[in-house]
Amino acid sequence: MKEFDKIHFVTSNRNKYEEASEIFGRYKLRLEWVNISVEEVQSDLLLDVILWKGYDILKILGNVPFIVEDTGLFINYLNGFPGTYSSYVYKSIGCKGILKLLEGVEDRTAYFLSYGLLHMKNNIFKLFKVRIDGIISFEERGMGGFGFDPIFIPEGHKITYAEMGPSVKNNFSHRGKLFNMIAKYILSRRLVM
Ligand code: IMP
Repeated sequence: MKEFDKIHFVTSNRNKYEEASEIFGRYKLRLEWVNISVEEVQSDLLLDVILWKGYDILKILGNVPFIVEDTGLFINYLNGFPGTYSSYVYKSIGCKGILKLLEGVEDRTAYFLSYGLLHMKNNIFKLFKVRIDGIISFEERGMGGFGFDPIFIPEGHKITYAEMGPSVKNNFSHRGKLFNMIAKYILSRRLVM
């Protein structure tokens, strides 16, 4: 049974929208970009951030199908920093600042953690979670992507997300996997035609 014919993706980040939309396109699903940002709650837990985001956006958009996503980069040597503060840290010290913090550090393991929250209707949500492990490179590499892409090498690879180009990044990245999961769920539940 068809429940909705399009899904809104709420993000102020064009790159995120393009990555998610490319994945949905593989399943012939259409994502409508809603370019708004809501203030993020301050918490060490990404789960808190995504749940509050979902609640705030529900108040703005009302009873329509939508997806919100929240991602953090967690660096083990730095006890999970920048984690939920990734956005602020990227804007303030950027990739160069992270590389500086890891100067001379051997343990470069890190992971991207992503939550996606799908609002179906009538306050019914489904939560999705993906973690991609990898390492922080020794220098910025690659021209593609955004954010910390030039310094993140996913496990099993030798190149950074930024060196992969958008479509290849989508095959291995946290967001690629997350939106694959969401698309499969939507199709399995026959939520769209
Ligand atoms: P947000 O709070 O989910 O928008 O993400 C926090 C920060 O993490 C962003 O400002 C980006 O710098 C970084 N980030 C999120 N997703 C990615 C990604 O796919 N690649 C690289 N950095 C990312």
